[in-house]
Amino acid sequence: MSDLPVLVTGGAGFIGSHLVDALLARGYSVRVLDNLSSGKLDNLPFGHSRLELIEGNVADAAQVREVVAGCKAVVHLAAVASVQASVIDPVGTHRSNFIGTLNVCEAMREQGLRRVLFASSAAVYGNDGEGEAIDEDTPKTPLTPYAADKLASEHYLDFYRRQHGLEPAIFRFFNIYGPRQDPSSPYSGVISIFTERAAKGLPITLFGDGEQTRDFVYIADLIGILLQALEAPQILPGAVNVGLNRSLSLNRLLEEISALLGSLPEVRRDAARPGDIRHSQASDRRLRQRYRLPEPTPMAAGLASLLGPA
Ligand code: NAD
Ligand code: UD1
Repeated sequence: MSDLPVLVTGGAGFIGSHLVDALLARGYSVRVLDNLSSGKLDNLPFGHSRLELIEGNVADAAQVREVVAGCKAVVHLAAVASVQASVIDPVGTHRSNFIGTLNVCEAMREQGLRRVLFASSAAVYGNDGEGEAIDEDTPKTPLTPYAADKLASEHYLDFYRRQHGLEPAIFRFFNIYGPRQDPSSPYSGVISIFTERAAKGLPITLFGDGEQTRDFVYIADLIGILLQALEAPQILPGAVNVGLNRSLSLNRLLEEISALLGSLPEVRRDAARPGDIRHSQASDRRLRQRYRLPEPTPMAAGLASLLGPA
């Protein structure tokens, strides 16, 4: 394995820090660029001889150029991950979520790097394909600044592929969950919020009727796919869904949590959030064509890892 590091932007966050652990375990050197806006130092194995952390902002072109220099590949995960945060602050989100991607593309072009993995999102589909498994050719209807920035980032990465030989592996993550997903903000991932509050006996807020669905993917099931994309001899064009053709309503999710804990705290109802997607279930056909998938982690096992022994 060459010693040049892999750059992981957003590496102190939920998905990024799991990827950093996996890369280090496989013998890679890793450089993390993170502004610690939602990521945490505690997520990273400090003192590891092959890990370097640079606190900085992907929206700063000069800094990105400096950090990309001397790397062999980039995994670009840094972004405001909350769809609702983008509804409240479109401009701030755009700097991180779109300008950040463009800065990464430019720095890679200047320095002749090719392989880049990108965390796009199921949010690009909006409510198209509702009620059925969504494949990658489903029309894109981004409903929020978050979704628009992800879709624009995809198009720019494809431009740099055609024009400058970048090798982008674009993934449309559905709802990833697991340990280290930070539950502390109201805009955090729903499973992190529900499991933390349920375990502490605190009231849970359900936005809408609870019949909205998501295709939840356990973090360990995602990481193996990212490693394959980093090491694949070539990357075919076209984004790939990372979802498992399963959908679970929030009402069913609460039942699963209740079954594991033996009870649930009070569930308060509130209005559906603006821009919220109703149904989300991925076609996993392309994912399975391009990558080897282990048996997906069952929901009950994933939730148990967050709730601990009942
Ligand atoms: P996260 O908030 O834990 O991680 C994002 C990381 O990026 C954090 O460490 C944060 O501090 C960092 N960051 C944010 N803005 C930055 C900036 N301007 N400069 C440098 N660092 C910055 O969220 P996550 O769930 O790990 O998400 C990782 C990526 O995956 C994001 O791009 C997100 O949009 C995407 N994604 C996540 C999901 C999911 O279900 N978790 C689904 C689809 C896409
Ligand atoms: C999530 C990700 C986003 C990703 C998208 C892909 C986070 C924070 N968001 O967005 O990065 O691009 O999946 O599909 O990781 N809800 C409640 N109560 C709560 C919190 C949420 O009812 O306390 C509801 C929401 O209104 C929504 C559902 O739970 O209907 C899921 O919300 P959330 O976890 O924020 O995820 P997405 O918006 O799907």
